[in-house]
Amino acid sequence: MSLIEWQDDYSVGIRNLDDQHKVLIDLINLFHDARSHGKEWQTLSIVLRSLMEYAATHFAGEEKLMIEHDFPGLHQHRLAHNEFVQKVSDFSEDFRESRAMLPQELMNFLGEWLVGHILVVDKQYSGFFKERGYG
Ligand SMILES: [Fe+2]
Repeated sequence: MSLIEWQDDYSVGIRNLDDQHKVLIDLINLFHDARSHGKEWQTLSIVLRSLMEYAATHFAGEEKLMIEHDFPGLHQHRLAHNEFVQKVSDFSEDFRESRAMLPQELMNFLGEWLVGHILVVDKQYSGFFKERGYG
């Protein structure tokens, strides 16, 4: 069973960003499935790395759009992205060293952070970009 299901109210009204958020949800679900099926550390590590790489590309794309449109919330938004990247890379560093199973705490963080971020932080740019004809 998936950890997160896409819901229409997750939409930020911008097609390509919604599509990217769906890919992030898929990657989190893939990680969750791999973990609940007892996949070994290496598999989890590969999925987690893909998730981190995709998230970094997605965040950079969002920030580029904010810069192009002089979005006033850029600074705060970038801080939120950076915190996520830092936290996930700290987790993965710890577990690369210990070779232990990645904990439920990370799983919960990934799911809760992404949904919370889309619903609260990403929604702040939604109307702003739409008013500027981007969508
Ligand atoms: Fe964001």
